Amino acid sequence: MRAETVKTNLVKMLSALRRLIRRNARLLARLLLAGLFACRDASAAELDISKLPPAASRKVDFVKDIQPILSKSCYECHGEKKQEAMLRWDAKEIALKGSEHGPVIVPGKSAQSVMIHLVAGLKGEDNLMPQKGERLSPEQIGLLRAWIDQGADWPESASVKVEDKRQHWGFKAPVRPRVPKVKNAKWVRNPIDNFVLARLDKEGLKPSPEADRATLCRRLSLDLIGLPPTIEEVDAFLADNSANAHEKQVERLLTSPHYGERWGGSGSMRPAMQTQTASRRTSRALSGFTATG
Ligand code: HEC
Repeated sequence: MRAETVKTNLVKMLSALRRLIRRNARLLARLLLAGLFACRDASAAELDISKLPPAASRKVDFVKDIQPILSKSCYECHGEKKQEAMLRWDAKEIALKGSEHGPVIVPGKSAQSVMIHLVAGLKGEDNLMPQKGERLSPEQIGLLRAWIDQGADWPESASVKVEDKRQHWGFKAPVRPRVPKVKNAKWVRNPIDNFVLARLDKEGLKPSPEADRATLCRRLSLDLIGLPPTIEEVDAFLADNSANAHEKQVERLLTSPHYGERWGGSGSMRPAMQTQTASRRTSRALSGFTATG
């Protein structure tokens, strides 16, 4: 009987607790987060800052005084090859933003900067930076401190430009470019020619003379289906005097099964298929040759 009451009371309490949590989920989450951040600050507060070597009293210069320390002692693990804690000391933007755990430099306040705590060994041997090799000397730490106290100036020119992956062209919506103006407008047949000619103009070059039609036919064929045209195809193209003979030839090649073979095959299959179709083509071309010759 008694055990029964304890049990019902427990169940009541639990469901009340559950209701409380459900109603205040957002508040609780906020408190939890605040607690996490407080940990980072609290650990800083417990550190014995009086153990830090004093900041250098002169004006420091990032390139002359600071970068050599970073490059000698830190780049190995926080540079181009490795980015421990997602931190890079060769890239201003990243270093000033901080590590995966948060900011590591507080400009103007070296004694509150995680970077200084770590190089001075304030957080114990396990967290000492650099994690390998020679420790930084008190003078070097003094320079780092002075640099931070003086505002952590870092000239753009002394930083690696880290590519923002979202700037890759693959993520950008295509935009129709402005068609460039050209001097020799007569040479232009369609707007793509404007781009070609504008670039040639820029390089101080003149367009090559137009190729003869048999050469054009061969280039088209090699380009689109990877095979030379048959003699009949060249003859048919030469005999076609219409203004859009070139476009028609392109259409024909695009509908050719060889077009799919050339562009659809995976890199490893393509050569094999090309050899096959090429030999078929060669025999066709040869029979054409005997027939006409
Ligand atoms: C041999 C490798 C190595 C070298 C060299 C090195 N580090 Fe690190 N560093 C690490 C590793 C590993 C971590 C990640 C530690 C972690 O997340 O617990 C780290 C993390 C850090 C962090 C982030 C700590 C945090 O809590 O946000 C700072 C700041 C840092 N290093 C500063 C430096 C500085 C300054 C130098 C040069 C004086 C340096 N490190 C050289 C390995 C190295």
